[in-house]
Amino acid sequence: MATRINPSILAADFANFESELGRIRSADLVHVDIMDNHFVPNLTFGLGMVERLQQVSPLPLDIHLMIDDPERWAPGYAEAGAFSVTFHAEATTDPVTVARRLRSIGARAGIALKPGTDVAPYLDLLPEFDQVLVMTVEPGFGGQSFMQSTMPTLAQLRAAVEKNGLDVWLQVDGGITEQTIEIAAAAGADTFVAGSSVFGAENPAAQISLLRERAASHRHGAGNLES
Ligand code: DX5
Ligand code: ZN
Repeated sequence: MATRINPSILAADFANFESELGRIRSADLVHVDIMDNHFVPNLTFGLGMVERLQQVSPLPLDIHLMIDDPERWAPGYAEAGAFSVTFHAEATTDPVTVARRLRSIGARAGIALKPGTDVAPYLDLLPEFDQVLVMTVEPGFGGQSFMQSTMPTLAQLRAAVEKNGLDVWLQVDGGITEQTIEIAAAAGADTFVAGSSVFGAENPAAQISLLRERAASHRHGAGNLES
């Protein structure tokens, strides 16, 4: 099982995205948080910014849509060339249709769950998705503390993925540090979003390697105990 580290540019210098992307070249994907000030009480950037990032980024884009009406807006991000587009389960009544549309355009389709959302209704839908994002903070802001209460959701997803032999990436997002990444890895995550812990580090490349090592040595099934 691969370990992926996706730095979130929500914690980068908004006036210098191109040079900030250069500091995280050793990561796997670039996590881009799209917020509409309706689904979450914060506003970031939209499609125009993503189209430009797509041109200059040395890494593929992992788009996290924290927006209402993904039926209407999500396909545009796939058309812009994003590698992966993840929308929130709470923002739609028809996640399968959105996912199929994303896949038909050529993007990986992801579904995100807020910390309080019950995962049960989504377990049977897993073959429709390439990734499930388990929010480990309430979506909307960087720099919050990891919520360990979300780990049972992750463990249920990992069990379902293994039982059905699926290739679905399990992503965690929010409060991931060199400590909390061990807990999330042990519970079954393989893809880790980290904003402040990477861009707040003096040496982002060294922090990316540290996160990667800690996750790999604590990953689910590796025989390690949760810390
Ligand atoms: C929060 C965003 C996260 C955020 C994580 O709503 O989805 O991607 O950037 O930031 P940190 O790693 O600082 O918690
Ligand atoms: Zn995010």
